[in-house]
Amino acid sequence: MRVDEQLNDPAFFATDAYYGLFDRMRREDPVHWTASPDGRGYWSVFRHADMKRMLNEPELFSSEREGVMPVIDTEMAEIAHEAMGVGEDVLTIDPPRHGEYRKVMSAPFLPKALADGEPRTRELIAEIFDGLPSHGEIDLVGDLAVRIPMAVICDILGLPREDWDTLLTCGKMAIGGTDPEYMQGSAAETVIGGFRKLYGYSSGLAEERRGCPFSDPLSLMANAQINGCPMPHSQVAHNGVQLMLAGFETTRNAFSGGVLALLQNPAQMALLREDPKRLRLAVEEFVRWSDPVISLMRTATADTELGGKRIKAGERLLMWFPSANRDEEVFDQPYTFDVTRHPNLHLGFGAGPHFCLGGPLAKTEIRLAMEQLIERYAGIEITGPVERVQSSFVGGLKHLPVRLIQHA
Ligand code: HEM
Repeated sequence: MRVDEQLNDPAFFATDAYYGLFDRMRREDPVHWTASPDGRGYWSVFRHADMKRMLNEPELFSSEREGVMPVIDTEMAEIAHEAMGVGEDVLTIDPPRHGEYRKVMSAPFLPKALADGEPRTRELIAEIFDGLPSHGEIDLVGDLAVRIPMAVICDILGLPREDWDTLLTCGKMAIGGTDPEYMQGSAAETVIGGFRKLYGYSSGLAEERRGCPFSDPLSLMANAQINGCPMPHSQVAHNGVQLMLAGFETTRNAFSGGVLALLQNPAQMALLREDPKRLRLAVEEFVRWSDPVISLMRTATADTELGGKRIKAGERLLMWFPSANRDEEVFDQPYTFDVTRHPNLHLGFGAGPHFCLGGPLAKTEIRLAMEQLIERYAGIEITGPVERVQSSFVGGLKHLPVRLIQHA
């Protein structure tokens, strides 16, 4: 029972203890029936191979039936699906419908568009670095890591600057609402409140952009045809929310987690300082190591078997990504942080049809931000306690107090 309590407790994921638990579960019970507060229970899936299979078989392991966020408490379940737009955004639409939605919004995230946009991304990141205090005492998460992906995705979506900070607060509520620092009321009220506020904002934009000839993803969706009909308003708005959240809340963790890992492994930092071109490969290790997405839910659409367990139609399964990304069956020395690791078959961006649409954008942002950090500062020192977000969904650092040391 103790295992289940830990898996259900967001605060457990603010510690590093979950890696030890996952190691044990991969060995002893890799597909584990887990009791949950809503009384329904779910399967916890720990091995890379089982998760990869689930990600590649979306018809059998549905994202649409009950969404992908681990909603396991009754209060949240009652209203969460409507607020989160389950079945309305690309993340929670199953194939074959899924492909059409993904196609409509993908153009700005393809390699050519990203390469064309790189100077603008670099400029946005430079602006954030320029705004840091000259004494160099900052919270690397709050002052830098959260601001970079926010600025980039807001710019891509064409959102007015005066709205960015409010949107970021809503993003923290929607994704990190189980953390006391982000809470406004109960966890459920916070998460749902965050989604509702973002939906209201996105809905207004979707209305404005209908008929506009812009090429940002929101305008593309607002003017798109799906099976010969205009994309419904609620779907445009929910996909807008999805892009904001995906943009704000994951990349920050890979970047700040990557910085922390480099500070704890100075030889790896030295490799990057020696040749910043190594960053192209290193970003994969930052994602594997920091595990921004901790868990994702699926619902079985038919009876099946997984890891020797019989799964019944309608049962929920929770994939634990930090476990897959330390699976010794796949990674040589999984607990070694190695910026030159190749191949790096981590599942941090998922796999299969829902593979992260923004992965190449996230990697560009992290690479450009690391480049500037290395170039602008001779050193970085940790100056206070490092804190992690209390969340079993999307996790990572909440505070990383550092001193940035200027070049002599
Ligand atoms: C390091 C940063 C990121 C990580 C670790 C990450 C992780 C993931 C993962 C694991 C999935 C798969 C979800 C599933 O299978 O249910 C996903 C999907 C997605 N991500 Fe990301 N993501 C990151 C950054 C971004 C960014 C910057 C964007 C863009 C705005 C983005 C947009 C999306 C979208 C739209 C999907 C849904 C794709 C689909 O369902 O077809 N992500 N991401």
